[in-house]
Amino acid sequence: MQEELNKIVAGVREKAPQIATRAEFESYKATISGPKGSLTEVMKGMGKVPKEDKPAMGKLINEAKTAVTAEFKAVVERLEAAELAAKLGPDIDPSLPSPDLNRGTIHPIAQVRDEMVNLFRRIGFSVAEATEVETEHYCFDALNIPSDHPARDMQDSYYLPEELKVGNVSKHVDEKYLLRTHTSTVQIRTMLEEEPPIRIVAPGRCFRRDTPDATHSANFHQIEGLYVDKDVSLMDLKATLDHFVKTIFGPKAKTRLRPSFFPFTEPSFEMDFFSPDLGKLSNKWLEIMGCGMVDPEVFKAVNIDPDVYTGYAFGMGIERIAMILQGVDDIRYYYQNDVRFLKQFA
Ligand code: DAH
Repeated sequence: MQEELNKIVAGVREKAPQIATRAEFESYKATISGPKGSLTEVMKGMGKVPKEDKPAMGKLINEAKTAVTAEFKAVVERLEAAELAAKLGPDIDPSLPSPDLNRGTIHPIAQVRDEMVNLFRRIGFSVAEATEVETEHYCFDALNIPSDHPARDMQDSYYLPEELKVGNVSKHVDEKYLLRTHTSTVQIRTMLEEEPPIRIVAPGRCFRRDTPDATHSANFHQIEGLYVDKDVSLMDLKATLDHFVKTIFGPKAKTRLRPSFFPFTEPSFEMDFFSPDLGKLSNKWLEIMGCGMVDPEVFKAVNIDPDVYTGYAFGMGIERIAMILQGVDDIRYYYQNDVRFLKQFA
């Protein structure tokens, strides 16, 4: 059997470089690895090999298969290159490097978003998304945000007109639509669609009527997190956030939860972290997110029984994390598309 295999491989090595067309290649290949090919016949013979010889024979067959596959691959590559060269004619050399040196790079905000999302995916979170245009219900009511909350003010959020015009037709919409002011909307949409256990992160774009300055932009990004199951506790939240901070900012980073208030969590916290390895920002407590245990009112709005399930939620600005990590001191740089800025993060 071993001799037979050696013969097949040697034959392929000799014949392969002489193959000149695809048709020739296909018919030759069939004589080796087709249903009646010589290599296939040897493999069929495996059944008759005594049990103790099987591992050694299996290994030899695999080696022969690998060698034959490599030869066939080289033939296909050679034929493809010849076909391309024939198509392009003698004046074009496709192996020269591209003269276009302005290759794009991943935007620094997208880089940080992906790093954060991937870290949560590794610990069992999946990614959820929802629309940027939302109704007041998903953005505020279902999140237990009262009707007199300042975020609902026309001055703070971007509302769509109540008279929508499509072509010549003007239509009055009863629901108030706006651009979402936070990614917490995705909590509601996910809980309406899925049964617990739910464990998601939701990255996305948000909009507020802020006057742009070094730390405010009317258009920015957040990542929301939500975990709903039986017996989810504050300890789970704290452990997850510790893991997040240590992974992103280094193993020496520490976290602290400070009591706060959000209508959709009870209790609510601001999470600060502290790291000795952050250059100018070292050894200061930096606030980076809001979090807490999902308020029972929110569960009621999505028909989840708060006596059976508990959950935690958190939300943070991606720009804020990116600025800390990348040493950027003005959020506006991220949106000016100045290649000199963007290239520094390539
Ligand atoms: N949605 C809040 C904001 O935009 C951030 C936030 C706070 C999200 C606490 C949460 C949370 O999920 O639990 O300011």
